[in-house]
Amino acid sequence: MKKETRFVHIGSSEDRVTGAVSPPIYPATTYRHPGPGQSTGYDYTRTGNPTRDILENTIAELEEGDRGFALASGMAAITLVFSLFGPGDRILVSDDLYGGTWRLLERVLGRFGLRAEYVDLTRDDQWLPRLPGAAAVFVETPSNPLMKIVDIERISRLAKRHGALVIVDNTFMTPFWQRPLTLGADVVVHSATKYLGGHNDVLAGLIVSKGRELSDRLTLLHHSVGAILSPHDCWLLLRGMKTLPLRLRRHEENAAAVARWLSGHPRVREVYYPGLESHPGYELHWRQASGAGGMVSFRVWNLEDVERLLSETRVILFAESLGGLETLITHPARQTHADIDPAVRERMGITEDLLRLSVGVEDVSDLLDDLAGVLGPR
Ligand SMILES: Cc1ncc(COP(=O)(O)O)c(C=O)c1O
Repeated sequence: MKKETRFVHIGSSEDRVTGAVSPPIYPATTYRHPGPGQSTGYDYTRTGNPTRDILENTIAELEEGDRGFALASGMAAITLVFSLFGPGDRILVSDDLYGGTWRLLERVLGRFGLRAEYVDLTRDDQWLPRLPGAAAVFVETPSNPLMKIVDIERISRLAKRHGALVIVDNTFMTPFWQRPLTLGADVVVHSATKYLGGHNDVLAGLIVSKGRELSDRLTLLHHSVGAILSPHDCWLLLRGMKTLPLRLRRHEENAAAVARWLSGHPRVREVYYPGLESHPGYELHWRQASGAGGMVSFRVWNLEDVERLLSETRVILFAESLGGLETLITHPARQTHADIDPAVRERMGITEDLLRLSVGVEDVSDLLDDLAGVLGPR
């Protein structure tokens, strides 16, 4: 099956009893055993649930990995992956990444002895000397919010030599556009709340692992920790995923138009979008991914324009999150990355003049008119 067909048919042939084309939701928390020492394959829903199985098998197949895990949020997924490590372990982390991951590492996991070192993974002089002895490398590409592009294949090859795992947060790209496990990474995590769900109505996280031993360790953690996704939310996520290719094409088309429009605007200082040839990671991005995505970050010259964009747009909504149908504008320094120490944030380049758009699927002329209504025509 071609990729788009595979997405459309997610869950369409799972119910062999009735032939239902939408997979059934099994809310049961426990399962009756046929007899002593026997099991239907399901015993207790934290350990296994038929609706969740469909989702977990689907994401494992789409990411071309060995096992999938569904969790209650993207942060639950990232927490579970980090719980593979223990006190004294050192992890190299993209210095530009979702603020919640930074908060988890600094405010929570640091207390258990896990050490995170934030490095620019696009610069060998920053990360290579720190690789020996590291337990893992955590990558976002494109990164959030500065859209840096990291070479997954190269990092994976070098990390392997040093026995470090490579974990990629693939939220921005989804497996439709980028499959890190095929480039050598060991684990992929998703905030499925974003493009995979796609409608701003389900909070979910997914993990896909490669290799038997690692998958077994994650299986143990998954049902021990218990932050699993409910069967109803598994179903909602499966439903959203069926239209992912359709939505992504439109997100990308609109994002490219918005990025081009912003790039030539006199009130805009800089635009970050991997679909622009001027982006420093352009060639690398297109080597490892097949779409530019729907996320566009930009800087304005004048801080008053930040306030006006957040309060005066009509179609574009001032809200956190990304990947849904509606275009959202976010101020990372105040929202998604607010918990990062201001000095660190400044060093990362997440300054007050930076805005992030999750470009939705509206008619693009409405989006450009909305921006022009605040910034003026180009
Ligand atoms: C790149 C990225 N990873 C992880 C997360 C966390 O996911 P969730 O909000 O589903 O817990 C987010 C949330 O914004 C994100 O943008």
